[in-house]
Amino acid sequence: MSIPATMRALTQSSLDGPGDLHLVTDMPVPSPGVGEVLIRVGAAGVNFVDISQSRGVFAGGPKPPYVGGIEAAGEVVALGDGVTGVELGAHVIGITIMGGAFAEYAVLFAAGCAPIPQGWTDEQALGMVVSWPTALAALKPLGQIAPGETVPIHAAAGGTGQVAVKLAKHYGATVIAAASPQKHDAVRALGADYLVDSRSADLAAEVMRLTDGAGADLVLESAGGPAFQASLAAAKRVTGRVVVFGLAGGEDAITNWDLVYKHQVHLIGLNIGVLIQSAPQVFSQVMGEMFGLIAAGVLGPGTPTIRDLADGPQALQDLEARDRRQARPHPNSSVCLACRRCGLKPRAPERGNVA
Ligand SMILES: NC(=O)c1ccc[n+]([C@@H]2O[C@H](COP(=O)([O-])OP(=O)(O)OC[C@H]3O[C@@H](n4cnc5c(N)ncnc54)[C@H](OP(=O)(O)O)[C@@H]3O)[C@@H](O)[C@H]2O)c1
Repeated sequence: MSIPATMRALTQSSLDGPGDLHLVTDMPVPSPGVGEVLIRVGAAGVNFVDISQSRGVFAGGPKPPYVGGIEAAGEVVALGDGVTGVELGAHVIGITIMGGAFAEYAVLFAAGCAPIPQGWTDEQALGMVVSWPTALAALKPLGQIAPGETVPIHAAAGGTGQVAVKLAKHYGATVIAAASPQKHDAVRALGADYLVDSRSADLAAEVMRLTDGAGADLVLESAGGPAFQASLAAAKRVTGRVVVFGLAGGEDAITNWDLVYKHQVHLIGLNIGVLIQSAPQVFSQVMGEMFGLIAAGVLGPGTPTIRDLADGPQALQDLEARDRRQARPHPNSSVCLACRRCGLKPRAPERGNVA
């Protein structure tokens, strides 16, 4: 298969949000450097990070103009120098944190690529390198989840939130999920024990009521804004853990006074990119656990909403507006831009769906 000189791609021209993401048809196809592979993108994941980058609030993010998208899955069509362990023709998924996934071709670091499980299509694997490991890292190595614990999860209808709900239930927790009301059915279907309205509920009061005043053992906080203070207030004194990994609703502050006199909790920050770089052994445990869960059938292929590459700007605007379509139908799914919808050639399933 020959590789063209140019391709379709979505470029972000400002830091004013996804309204300034535009389709171009003459973007040069990138070449893989040392340790990199070029993939023909079958599907690119849409993540909240894409919004943060388009608004310039993602620390160290790309500067416009840049090709959007940080998660790409597809077929390896060229190898850079020094690549081992990844073969031409293999289907892989990886992160390209400075953008480049919303395109027909993308370059990924070979060492960071995960193989797409046998029988899964490219789009069914979306989440495997962003939202799934983030949820797992928050729950297990950082959150130290244990059976019987109570775990409130913010943004539970999102890509990361849905897999977190499913996994927290798998690990034996009682889950209190926060989401917009129109998304409650989708989250309840994942096994959440209690649903609260993310836009109006006083989460701390709800958690106290549901735990007879004891508070939550572990809070997964990614909503930001007022949810941050609510999470601190909802956690059990002394032993409660709050893992903070997102701030969709904005920044908030905590002082040393607060920790001493008001919120005697364990406050844990999570950034999956930093975790990969600074604690590779922890990341490798997380990925090992994830592939174990896939093999055991706890995590299965996703059923993402497919939208064409040209619909990318609208898809991101819907995400930013907390559109109800963002209540994803499946715990392991993610909105997906089918970059080569016509060229997508899913391999025949070799086993049934395991989710
Ligand atoms: N630190 C890391 O390494 C890392 C990795 C992955 C994701 N994240 C973060 O985790 C969060 C979820 O990411 P995702 O990609 O899984 O999310 P997503 O699928 O885009 O879903 C985001 C969810 O956040 C909720 N939300 C709450 N406040 C919001 C606001 N002000 N604007 C928009 N949505 C809001 C929405 O739910 P309701 O409308 O139902 O409330 C929505 O379902 C984001 O904050 C993201 O930045 C962090």
